[in-house]
Amino acid sequence: MQSETQSLEHYWMPFTANRQFKSKPRMLAEAQGMYYKDTNGRPVLDGTAGLWCCNAGHGRKEISQAVSRQIHQMDYAPSFQMGHPLAFELAERLAQISPEGLNKVFFTNSGSESVDSALKIAINYHRARGESTRTRFIGRELGYHGVGFGGISVGGIGGNRKTFSQQLLPGVDHLPHTLDMQGNAFSRGMPKTGAEKADVLEQLVALHGAENIAAVIVEPMSGSAGVILPPEGYLQRLREITKKHGILLIFDEVITGFGRVGDAFASQRWGVTPDMITTAKALNNGAIPMGAVLIDDAIYDASMQGPDGIELFHGYTYSGHPVAAAAAIASLDIYQNEQLFERSRELEGYFEEAVHSLKGLPNIIDIRNIGLVGGIQFSPSEEGVGKRGFGIFEHCFANGTLVRATADIIAISPPLIIDKQQIDQIVNTLGDAIRAVG
Ligand SMILES: Cc1ncc(COP(=O)(O)O)c(C=O)c1O
Repeated sequence: MQSETQSLEHYWMPFTANRQFKSKPRMLAEAQGMYYKDTNGRPVLDGTAGLWCCNAGHGRKEISQAVSRQIHQMDYAPSFQMGHPLAFELAERLAQISPEGLNKVFFTNSGSESVDSALKIAINYHRARGESTRTRFIGRELGYHGVGFGGISVGGIGGNRKTFSQQLLPGVDHLPHTLDMQGNAFSRGMPKTGAEKADVLEQLVALHGAENIAAVIVEPMSGSAGVILPPEGYLQRLREITKKHGILLIFDEVITGFGRVGDAFASQRWGVTPDMITTAKALNNGAIPMGAVLIDDAIYDASMQGPDGIELFHGYTYSGHPVAAAAAIASLDIYQNEQLFERSRELEGYFEEAVHSLKGLPNIIDIRNIGLVGGIQFSPSEEGVGKRGFGIFEHCFANGTLVRATADIIAISPPLIIDKQQIDQIVNTLGDAIRAVG
């Protein structure tokens, strides 16, 4: 229970309307399976896997026991010039489920750190090959790549950049986003049209010269901006153009990794292999902060050619943390034993029907889905952008279901252990909320 006298004053909450929250807090205290309990003991169905993290559901004993064993055996080991077996074991396990060729792993503690690490690894790789003019990055409008200065520079969400606009990385361009509400609203799965938006990359190459461009980074499916799917053929085109010009392609799979879209990675679902994949979130089911960059062998091998010594001047005190690694290995075991990546694909059809059944309710202007992700977009209310989305989120929470609102888009991304009845419960609560908020 939250004590009556507990102060809320001292914690500056991230990406939160602090004053609004503190005037009407929503506090979670326990979690088991598909459900949270709030501080009053009220169950709340988890429609968001926490924050896209808990793909195996909550309270998994296999994970907590692995964490407990490891923290007793060895709480921490230095990560620079020292190693411990679990980090190597986890790297090997990740290589086994990665797309072909991505067999090297660099550990971080978050998605933001994975992104900044991947950008640095890209520059380091080109320098190692004598192409040190390749320093520019290309991101995409509406992309979310975390909150480091690298991540917000290649990211394309205005609200996250504006305050810091004078301090962003130089030499960054953005491809156009792929959301086409006019042509593709209410698409199921990948939209049919829009692949040509990838061709803008050719224009940027013509403008700057391929010899100056290090990498293109995109989320294969944008999550944070509101579940924006790539049009059919779009990712293939990005791959062809980057390959043609010697530019690295980075997929930011912090959200799409570990089964969310019906395969281990979106890269495999859509048959496009990038040079690097950034991950975090569901890597260890959200149990302990951890991220990882999956890297093509060629990048690692090229970086090992210089004089003997440190090959990459980059790393984190907690890279490959033993307790986080133990949690990740236990999570990968669960994903594999319970075939959760496959389950996400098996449930996709049912989930798709359920979310699209909301079409026709007030103010819905688009519904998008893939795997176990759904996005429902509303026209903004007269009170301002985001008010309607937030109202629906609050209404759902008050009625026992957690969904996520970004502006006027509601995202659903439940744990992959969800069953059909629980899918119905989320969609029914959402339908009631949409009718009530209007
Ligand atoms: C695609 C993507 N990249 C990076 C991040 C940043 O991850 P973190 O919040 O762990 O730094 C996120 C977080 O939502 C994300 O969705």
